[in-house]
Amino acid sequence: ACLPSPVPVPTLVYVDCLSLCPYRVWHPLQVVYPYSYRFLLNEPDKCREWAPFLVLLVVTEPKDIEARNAIRQTWGNESAVPGVSMVRLFLTGVHPHYSSQLQRLLKEESALHRDIIQQDFLDTYNNLTLKTLMGMEWVSRHCPNASYVVKADSDIFLNMGFLVRELLQPQLPPKKDFMTGYIYRNTGPLRSKAYKWYVPREVYPNDTYPPYCGGPGYVLSGDLAKKVYGVAQTLRVINMEDAFMGICLYELGVRVTDSPWGLFNVFWQEYEKCRFSKLVVVHHFGPTDLLRVWPDFLGGNKTCPS
Ligand SMILES: *[C@@H]1O[C@H](CO)[C@@H](O)[C@H](O)[C@H]1NC(C)=O
Ligand SMILES: *[C@@H]1O[C@H](CO)[C@@H](O)[C@H](O)[C@H]1NC(C)=O
Ligand SMILES: *[C@@H]1O[C@H](CO)[C@@H](O)[C@H](O)[C@H]1NC(C)=O
Ligand SMILES: *[C@@H]1O[C@H](CO)[C@@H](O)[C@H](O)[C@H]1NC(C)=O
Ligand SMILES: *[C@@H]1O[C@H](CO)[C@@H](O)[C@H](O)[C@H]1NC(C)=O
Repeated sequence: ACLPSPVPVPTLVYVDCLSLCPYRVWHPLQVVYPYSYRFLLNEPDKCREWAPFLVLLVVTEPKDIEARNAIRQTWGNESAVPGVSMVRLFLTGVHPHYSSQLQRLLKEESALHRDIIQQDFLDTYNNLTLKTLMGMEWVSRHCPNASYVVKADSDIFLNMGFLVRELLQPQLPPKKDFMTGYIYRNTGPLRSKAYKWYVPREVYPNDTYPPYCGGPGYVLSGDLAKKVYGVAQTLRVINMEDAFMGICLYELGVRVTDSPWGLFNVFWQEYEKCRFSKLVVVHHFGPTDLLRVWPDFLGGNKTCPS
């Protein structure tokens, strides 16, 4: 049989240009940065009266109202750890298709809770790094004296009491140049387009990432959040937010800090009160699961051996 000869596929060449070319010729997954994204929702006065011990930045999409409500009632409760001041903010971009409908709802939710910040970039998976950077920008501009910053995904279980009392220890002076979480070492970008985590060479040419903390939940000192924001203005931003934080630390010459094994879990674990009372993060907890386990986690009859 006579097969048609393959049609040559034109190879697109993306010019390596950090700032010189218009970004039309950038790779479509290239994160557009630095760029003056505008705040559509902001809470600039949260730290005016006092510097909080901890700023909790939770990544959500505009539509995630159920997750935000569950988090407000559980680990995101600002007064859940007695004696420790905490500021909670949800980070969002703009929905790529239903922005006008969702914006109205988001504004109402924001007026009610005063805990949402939003910039005018498209809220897509490959723009996630922009959300983290918006959080770092907010801390740098509006809360520069916070001792610690936690970045959390919205689908996790987070034991704030354990994090604060055992790991951060408010009675001590705040750590400097500190970042910890579930640490990935000796990894590199995935080059297959089939992956959600695909990183094209045009966006990040190196074959390895510096050590970094897994995205579901990590913590850094307030001083480092400001330095990360500063150095990010000088780097090519990649579409993996957690690996990009590692790249920022590498450029700053700061190492990630190991924390005891098992505290930060990027994989799911079955809820068990005593185990969960001695860890910080478990990934893959939706709003229904959170609300289901929370009363037992806080109260319940069972006392755990210390
Ligand atoms: C937050 O925690 C405080 C102190 O435990 C509690 O009184 C309050 O009802 C909680 N708020 C929400 C929204 O669950
Ligand atoms: C990221 O957001 C910018 C600004 O809104 C937009 O131009 C770009 O297409 C988005 N990128 C992706 C990969 O969604
Ligand atoms: C942060 O702390 C410094 C030094 O204590 C102080 O001068 C500054 O006003 C504080 N900034 C804010 C925004 O609270
Ligand atoms: C990427 O590779 C270049 C060239 O080998 C090296 O100079 C640079 O430090 C690397 N960057 C990172 C983040 O590893
Ligand atoms: C405490 O134990 C009693 C008796 O075993 C049980 O009925 C109750 O549901 C338990 N309460 C919680 C919060 O687990």
